[in-house]
Amino acid sequence: MFVTVFLLLVALCSQMGNGDGGEGAQRPGHVSVIIVGGTGDLAKKYLWQGFFELYVNRVSGGNTFSFYGGGLSPAEKATPVLFEILKAVSCSKDVSPERCALLKEQFLRLSQYRQLKTQEDYQDLAKHIKKQLQEEGMTEAGRLFYLSVPAFTYADIAEKINSSCRSANGAWLKVVLEKPFGHDFRSAQVLASQLGSSLKDEEMYRIDHYLGKQVVSNILPFRIKNRKFLDPIWNKHHIERVEIVLKETLDVKGRIPFYDQYGVIRDVMQNHMTEVMMMLTIKPPMNVSSREEVLQNKLQIFSSLLPLGKNQAVIGQYRAYKTEVQQELNKTKDHVSLTPTFAAVLAHIDEARYEGVPILLISGKMLDERVGYARVLFKSDIFCLQNHNSVHCKPKQIVFYFGHGSLKDPAILVSKNLFKPAVTENEWKEVTEHPDVSVLGLPISDYYVQTPIEQREAYAELISHIFAGRKNNFISTENLLASWALWTPLLSSLASSFPRIYPGGADNGGLLDILLKGKDISYNSRAVIISPDQMGGSSTNGFQVMQGKFRSADMVSAWAEELVERLAADMQEAAEAAVREEGVFHLALSGGSTPLALFHRLSQHHFSFPWRRTHVWMVDERCVPLTELESNFRSLHDHLLQHVRIPYYNIHPMPVQLNQRLCVEEDGGALMYERELGKSVNDTSFHFVMLGVGYDGHTASLFPGGKANELNESLVVLTESPVKPHQRMSLTFGAINRARRVALLVMGKGKHELITQLSRVKDNPDKWPITAVKPVKGRLVWYIDYDALIG
Ligand code: BG6
Repeated sequence: MFVTVFLLLVALCSQMGNGDGGEGAQRPGHVSVIIVGGTGDLAKKYLWQGFFELYVNRVSGGNTFSFYGGGLSPAEKATPVLFEILKAVSCSKDVSPERCALLKEQFLRLSQYRQLKTQEDYQDLAKHIKKQLQEEGMTEAGRLFYLSVPAFTYADIAEKINSSCRSANGAWLKVVLEKPFGHDFRSAQVLASQLGSSLKDEEMYRIDHYLGKQVVSNILPFRIKNRKFLDPIWNKHHIERVEIVLKETLDVKGRIPFYDQYGVIRDVMQNHMTEVMMMLTIKPPMNVSSREEVLQNKLQIFSSLLPLGKNQAVIGQYRAYKTEVQQELNKTKDHVSLTPTFAAVLAHIDEARYEGVPILLISGKMLDERVGYARVLFKSDIFCLQNHNSVHCKPKQIVFYFGHGSLKDPAILVSKNLFKPAVTENEWKEVTEHPDVSVLGLPISDYYVQTPIEQREAYAELISHIFAGRKNNFISTENLLASWALWTPLLSSLASSFPRIYPGGADNGGLLDILLKGKDISYNSRAVIISPDQMGGSSTNGFQVMQGKFRSADMVSAWAEELVERLAADMQEAAEAAVREEGVFHLALSGGSTPLALFHRLSQHHFSFPWRRTHVWMVDERCVPLTELESNFRSLHDHLLQHVRIPYYNIHPMPVQLNQRLCVEEDGGALMYERELGKSVNDTSFHFVMLGVGYDGHTASLFPGGKANELNESLVVLTESPVKPHQRMSLTFGAINRARRVALLVMGKGKHELITQLSRVKDNPDKWPITAVKPVKGRLVWYIDYDALIG
C-alpha cells in the first residue's frame, strides 16, 4: 500500500517546487518524522501544519515519509485526538480543493500515534521503522524527532533516542528542541552538556520561532542589500534609539505552571527579542548564510553589551495574574507571585559604533494591542517652524513589522525622508496601495513599504530549514549561553522585586509608560499601585508612602524611588526652614552606596535647594586620599557636589590626609574637624544628619565593639573598621545626637534581615551601634524601603 501511495504522490506533486538543495534532498529516501508531544498545544497549532507543508513540498524531491505523533498516553486514547488535529491541516490558496482533499487523505494515512514513554517504546519504534523499510524495500534518508514536550524531559528523551532509535547506514538524525533551554546560565549549561552526551551538535536544532518569521529573517539581508544607504547612518551619530516591542493582549491562563516559573523575560526576551536585537546590531556578515560568521558577529555584540542591572529594567504583572496562579497552582488566597508578565529593559552596546544608543526591549501580556516590531528611530536636526507635514519634518525611522497591530501583515517600512530601499527579488515586493492606517506615528503613505510576496508561517519555514539541514536560523550552544550570560544577572537581581500591578488592556493608561534616564530606566509615572495583600496585609489601601514607627521612632516607608523622593523633599524642607530662621543650613552626609540615590535625586530634581546657604559636612571618611574612588568625599563630590551650585568654602571634607600621611593621631585631624565644626555650627548642632546602617549594625564609622562608641565628649574621632580600609574618621554619637534632625536611610532586600533583627533588639550600642542614635533634643526618622522592610 505504501508504494502505491508514494507513486500517487509523486504524480500528484510533480508540479510542486522542490525548494533548496540540502541534506534531505541530497539523499532521497524514506524519512520518519516523530513529534514527541504530538497531541500538545504547539503541535496542534503549528507543527502538524508545518510538517504537512513539508510533506507536500518535498515528496517530489524523491522522499517518502512516515509521521508519528508520540506521547505518554496509550494509543487507544490518543489516536482519535491526533487524527482530529491532523484533519485540521490546510493547503495553500493555490491548491485546488480536490487536490487538497487528496493530499490530506494521504498525509493522514502516513501518520500514526505511538506511545513513547519507556525505553522499550523507543526500541519498538526503531523496530517498526526498520521493518517498514525492509517491507517496502526503501532506503532510509533520516529520522527527525521534534521534541514538543517540557524541557525537563529533553535529556531523558535524547538519551533514549541515542541508545535505541538512531538510524543506521549513514541516514541522518535531527532532533529539534523547543525553548525553554534552561532558566538561567547554569541550567542552560547543564542541559547543553546533558544533551551533548547523547546528541552531536550538528544533530540538534534549537528552535527560536522568531528566526522563522519572514521579517526577522530578512533584517540582515535587508541591511546588506541597502548597505550603501545604511552604512553612513547605522551608528550613534544618527540613531536616536532602537525599540524592540512585543505587545500581547492575551493573558497566560492555562499556561501558568510553565509561565509562573519563567515570566516575560525568560519567555520572550532572553530568546526572541535578543535574537532580533542581534540581527539589528551585528556587523553584517560577508556571507549571510555562513553560520559561523553570523555566530562570531553575534558573540562580538554579546561581549560588548553592558551588564543589565536592576536600574536597566522595570517589571509589571497584570492584576488578575495572582488569582490565576492561585487557581492553577492550587495556592491559598495569600499566595503572591512575583513573576513579571510585563518588562521593559534598556540595553547599551559598548562599541564605538553604538555608544550611548539606547536599545529598548518591551514586552507584556494583557496590554492594549497585539503587535510586534523593531523600530530604528533616527535623529533629526531639523527644526520645523511651520510646515510640520512637510516630509523633512517627519520622524525618520525604519520599522521591521513582525505582524498583527494596525498593519496586520508583516512588512519592512522605511520613512520616505530616509531613502528608497531595495527589495529582495523573488521573495519581497514593494507595496504602493495602502490602507488608511498609521504605523508608529506616520501615515503609511509616508513610508516605502515592502512585504513578503508569499506569507509563510514561522514554524513551517523553520521545519523546511531543518529538513534541508540549513542550520543558520537555529540557536547554537554558544549563542544560547552568551544570551543567558547577559540575562541571568538581571534575573537574579529582580528575583525578589515587586512588579508594578497593572489592570490590563486599555485601562493600563500611562501606567506602564517608560522613562529613559541615561543608562537607567524607570516607570514614567511615580504612583505605584500596590494591593494591600501584596504588602502582606499591612496596609489598608493602595498607597505610595507609609508612615509608622520603628524602634519607637518615626518611620517612613515606600518603594525605593518614592522613599528617596520623600527624604529629599524632607531635607529640602529642613534646609529652607533653617535658611529662613538662621540664614544657613548645616548638613552632615554619610558615605556608602545607599545615599547615592538620594544624591542623584537632590542634584537632578531639587533645583531650588538653597545650596548657596548650605554647608556640607561629612559624617565619616575612610582614611584614603580624597581623590580615591573609595573616599566618601570623592563619591559625594562625584554624585552630588559637582552637580549643584554650592560655594566651595561651604564644603567641609574630613582632614584624613595631613603631613602627607593618612589618619595619624598625632597629626590631629579629628580635632581640627571638631574645631572647624565648633567655629561654624551653632552649638555644634547640625540641622540635618543623614545616616545609614551597615549589615553589622554600624552607623557612621562606629562599629560593633568599637572603643569610640562611648567617648561622647569628643565630636570627631579616628576609628577602626573590621573591613578595608580599616582606618576611619567619624562623627561620634555625641555629635550625631546633638543634631536637630537625624534621618536613617535603609534600602534593599539585603537589609531585610537586619531590619527584622533591629525591630527586636534592645539598645546595645556595643553590639548594635545604631541603637545609640538617639537625638537628645532633635527628631529621628527612619526611612526604610519596602525591600528592606518586608524582604
Ligand atoms: C512564545 C511565548 O515563544 O512566543 C509566548 O512562549 C508568546 O508567550 C509567543 O506569546 C509570541 O509569539 P508570536 O509569534 O505570537 O509573536
